[in-house]
Amino acid sequence: MREAAKTFRLGILISGRGSNMVALIDAAQAGMIPNAEVAVVISDQATAAGLEKAQARGIESVVIERRGRSREEHDREIMVALRDRNVDLICLAGYMRILSNEFIEGFRGRVLNIHPSLLPSFPGLGPQKQALDKGMNFSGCTVHFVDETLDGGPIIAQRVVPVLEGDTVETLSARILEQEHQLYPEAVAQVLANNHFSQAANS
Ligand code: GRF
Repeated sequence: MREAAKTFRLGILISGRGSNMVALIDAAQAGMIPNAEVAVVISDQATAAGLEKAQARGIESVVIERRGRSREEHDREIMVALRDRNVDLICLAGYMRILSNEFIEGFRGRVLNIHPSLLPSFPGLGPQKQALDKGMNFSGCTVHFVDETLDGGPIIAQRVVPVLEGDTVETLSARILEQEHQLYPEAVAQVLANNHFSQAANS
């Protein structure tokens, strides 16, 4: 008899609006990320608009605020919450805190991020403004593995977006965001299909 395919459990970290989180949840629920379910959404901000959107979709959402603790202590609490729920893969979706080395080490190769530029161009804050200021004709978005560098881990997938005459940060950001919502689920599906996770899934 063939073994049933494992269902991979995703954990999503947010700090705000959560539109990429919604794209991931909806894609998983529609079966467009095969063998995957979103197990939990964790926000470091109690006021993150994404929290209600997760709840509306029947996904457990948890707030883990920093509350004056060090990055290491805060991250440890998040790690416990993820491990308690047997999360296989972590997707950062507008999560605005840099992760501790301990977190990255603890989930090496299991943390993805989406960034609104064609990395390695324009890492860090305000990448859409950086692209406009440089007079780029094209920008886009990148899904990459998270390592100790700022937006510098191995690239998984990218989408190119044109910069149009008269673009503002808002219009360019909106055009890129539309592509982010397609790219992130596709990239997660690609990572899971490569099945880097079968061993550690039970550990
Ligand atoms: C997105 O542009 C994402 O690429 C960046 O932060 C933004 C988050 O937006 N990392 P949302 O919270 O997913 O709507």
